[in-house]
Amino acid sequence: MPHNVILVGFMGAGKSSVGRIVARRLGRCFVETDDMIVAKEGMSIPEIFATKGEPYFRELEEDVVNLLALKSGDVIATGGGLPCREGRPEMLRTLGTMAWLSGDFDVLYERALGMGQRPMLASRSRDEAEALYAARTAFYAKADLTVDTTELGPDQVAGRVMALLRSRERSPRAHTRR
Ligand code: S3P
Repeated sequence: MPHNVILVGFMGAGKSSVGRIVARRLGRCFVETDDMIVAKEGMSIPEIFATKGEPYFRELEEDVVNLLALKSGDVIATGGGLPCREGRPEMLRTLGTMAWLSGDFDVLYERALGMGQRPMLASRSRDEAEALYAARTAFYAKADLTVDTTELGPDQVAGRVMALLRSRERSPRAHTRR
């Protein structure tokens, strides 16, 4: 079984930094879906959005999801919109344990604005970004486990993810939350 750990969540949740820490601690490879897209296209994510548009970017995400089926034992950080399609969370869960890094909108929004360019935020007002967050929550909530990152740093979040992964090894069916 391809037991990957798949991190999902809104922009600013810390998927990349937490994923790197979890991968290092577990001795696994770390993969980012955005990096796979950038490598394939030879362009940054903001450039892809600016020159080809969001629908094209979502098609690239679809290709990446198909490639993820080849991964085994990796820690995978997904782009914030990748799980938010009908049937996508269920598909991701066939690839391993899906972990939602959740958090209060205000905190995630401030973090995301402070870290690099985010085309999905640059083109939206704060209220529109909050509506996007609300619309996505139902998809993220299909994860196997959830860690609320609102008041935590990446090391603490990584520690909780690992504790929940261990407890799932003992009772695999439960949805676990910290
Ligand atoms: C997106 C989030 C980004 C990146 C792209 C689209 C989104 O990744 O995939 O800009 O739709 O939320 P992060 O969640 O790592 O910022």
